[in-house]
Amino acid sequence: MARPPSDTRPAKHSRPGDPESILIRTMRDGDSIEELTQLLNRAYGRFIKSGVRMKAAVQQPSETRKRTARGECLVAEIGGRLVGTLVWRRPGRPHSPCRYYRDPSVATFEELAVNPQDQGRGIGAKLLREAESRAQKHGAREMACDTAANSTSLVDWYRSCGYGVVAEVRWPNTNHLNVVLSKRLV
Ligand SMILES: CC(C)(COP(=O)(O)OP(=O)(O)OC[C@H]1O[C@@H](n2cnc3c(N)ncnc32)[C@H](O)[C@@H]1OP(=O)(O)O)[C@@H](O)C(=O)NCCC(=O)NCCS
Repeated sequence: MARPPSDTRPAKHSRPGDPESILIRTMRDGDSIEELTQLLNRAYGRFIKSGVRMKAAVQQPSETRKRTARGECLVAEIGGRLVGTLVWRRPGRPHSPCRYYRDPSVATFEELAVNPQDQGRGIGAKLLREAESRAQKHGAREMACDTAANSTSLVDWYRSCGYGVVAEVRWPNTNHLNVVLSKRLV
């Protein structure tokens, strides 16, 4: 099985001119599941246009609630407005259909999204770094995710964040092959 690259570059927190006010925090009870769902629907809507069926593009609030409960849901907030999200899961998913995720040293994340109007400001990278740091504190040696193999610009984005392709997975009820991307944390 291929092993991921390690990222030795210094962490980037924001580009010059980006608001200092981007707050990354754990989702809390007062956060609106509907607002989070709309954000996910908007961000993943671009995949529908390219013919890739991503559940987050059309999921309902009940599904968002279920998915956020699978791990720790982080949100990015600017002035009280939700602008990004990600759900990360501790290492150890022994029953996952994805063999790579069964490795007890591999943490995973899903539901990564940044509001389309707020993309390109370092929010996605900041969410990732926070999840990686939390996963490392929980003993993870790698952080992994998967995405549509034909989303080349997204795969490039993950590469720019220190991730490399390590495997492939095909989930039930999807119409595309996914690549598994991983990054060494230690
Ligand atoms: C993917 C996504 C989360 C990225 O979030 P973002 O906040 O827009 O990304 P960032 O601003 O943090 O990008 C940081 C860096 O990546 C670079 N980058 C952005 N797109 C890139 C691409 N296609 N290829 C290479 N680098 C890219 C940016 O230039 C920036 O680098 P810099 O700081 O050196 O200029 C966001 O675009 C999104 O929500 N997309 C739709 C949903 C989605 O695809 N989720 C993931 C599904 S697996």
